[in-house]
Amino acid sequence: MTVKIAPSILSSDFSRLGEEVRAIDDAGCDYIHIDVMDGHFVPNLTFGPPVIKCIRKVTKKPFDVHLMINPAQPFLKDYADAGADIITVHAEADPHLDRSLQFIRSMGKKAGVSLNPHTSESVLEYLLDKLDLILVMSVNPGFGGQSFIESQLEKIRRIRTMIGQRPIEIEVDGGVNAATIASVVGAGADVVVAGSAVFRGDDYVSTISELRNAIKAV
Ligand code: DX5
Ligand code: ZN
Repeated sequence: MTVKIAPSILSSDFSRLGEEVRAIDDAGCDYIHIDVMDGHFVPNLTFGPPVIKCIRKVTKKPFDVHLMINPAQPFLKDYADAGADIITVHAEADPHLDRSLQFIRSMGKKAGVSLNPHTSESVLEYLLDKLDLILVMSVNPGFGGQSFIESQLEKIRRIRTMIGQRPIEIEVDGGVNAATIASVVGAGADVVVAGSAVFRGDDYVSTISELRNAIKAV
């Protein structure tokens, strides 16, 4: 199985954002993970559609947009128009997930739901045929560089079983590095987000290949 690596630009140097996106593209990443935070759903603020539209010009790699905003529904079209390929909303920030997922797909985009560490995978039960991606948060959302929450491994395994043969990707976000990635992939992740683990050095080819090497034996 080929696991996708999605560097989170939250840990990049924002003063050189375009160059940073180009650099992770050149280094062979699979998705560009874009953390949108509103200072309300999560205790941090990042960027919105205008910034995403700017960086859309520098890469053709899929934009994996993780919306940590409440409400999300009124802004979904703005993120689609800005160039998102995958749009993920949080279960805790949306009382109408079914409607949001249908709307995201109606715009020709892939639809995802994210679960905070305390949220049970049971909220996904009646959504499985409308989902393209499930994002398991393995830290409390808001910041890069936090430690992986081990209890999420069991959640990943349960989701793997729940989805059966459906073409849904399981993405895991938070605290993934060369030491934790093997257990995440072993539990069933298809896509791993890595912020600080990729951007900690200057050589993204080697930080990404370090992650890929760490899962060769899985
Ligand atoms: C946290 C974000 C993550 C974050 C991960 O709220 O959703 O994508 O950037 O950062 P690391 O990989 O450093 O834990
Ligand atoms: Zn994220």
